[in-house]
Amino acid sequence: VLSWTKDYFRRSGIEAARLEAEILLAHALKTERLELYLTPDRTLTEQERSGYKALICLRARGTPSQYLLGETEFYHCRIKISPAALIPRPETEELVAYIVNDLASQARRPWQMLDLGTGSGAIAIALARAFPQARVLAIDVSPQALELAAENARYNRVQERLSFLQSNWYQGVTGTFDLIVSNPPYVSRCELTSLQREVHREPAIALDGGPSGLDCLTQIVGRSAEFLTPQGALYLELGENQATPVRQMIGETRAYGSVEILKDLSGKDRFARARRTADSVNHPTLHP
Ligand SMILES: C[S@@+](CC[C@H](N)C(=O)[O-])C[C@H]1O[C@@H](n2cnc3c(N)ncnc32)[C@H](O)[C@@H]1O
Repeated sequence: VLSWTKDYFRRSGIEAARLEAEILLAHALKTERLELYLTPDRTLTEQERSGYKALICLRARGTPSQYLLGETEFYHCRIKISPAALIPRPETEELVAYIVNDLASQARRPWQMLDLGTGSGAIAIALARAFPQARVLAIDVSPQALELAAENARYNRVQERLSFLQSNWYQGVTGTFDLIVSNPPYVSRCELTSLQREVHREPAIALDGGPSGLDCLTQIVGRSAEFLTPQGALYLELGENQATPVRQMIGETRAYGSVEILKDLSGKDRFARARRTADSVNHPTLHP
């Protein structure tokens, strides 16, 4: 069954054909992937076969596996997925890892964090889990995404420390935060059309960064300092080739003491970290 699906998926243009076949078969059989190897001679019942067939047909027609499984793993959390929100990406886990690493020595502080464009809630939830005293305000313009994020907060048992707000970026936000994080829509209009067909199943509002891809980043950076404490920090995920303009726009605010561009695991410039005070580089105390 797996070999047949692998060939079928390859012909349908799916890159990780064997892996996706295994993931979907394990899901259809309500078992772990490893079990497929431990019982290679198991025969499928008629019901299992038809459930699996339905899944692989949808996958071959372009539905991402995560939508078929209904959830995905993100930085030690299980995140429910629906077409209301972007499927959290591995790069974004790296962004969370940078923050967790930077604040590790003060993990139990009552950090106040703001997640702009929370989508499924992945970043906000992962941070709330990593920092047990932190409170996170998660905002999104999409009410459907916020509904999913709230469900995910309950699913990961952090709902008491998360608040949700429907807002056009900072519009409805009040107060100041130790940390602002965002993985905003940063794909340029012309790039949008050339993305893999699976990406087109995700909401355009989660991807579309305007003609240059920088529209949302410009808005987020522009007012960020107003919502940060004097020692606060801003963490952003960026698209390829956006490091230079983003570094420049952060510099133009004249509100930050340091700006660094950080790489993802594939060596691409992928994140920006801006700290309001330069000396917080070695002492990310932010504020108590
Ligand atoms: C790239 S997705 C990121 C989702 C999630 N944070 C993640 O990393 O998986 C960007 C999110 O920004 C939201 N968004 C787009 N425009 C917005 C706006 N004007 N104000 C607030 N959120 C917005 C989208 O609805 C989407 O959920």
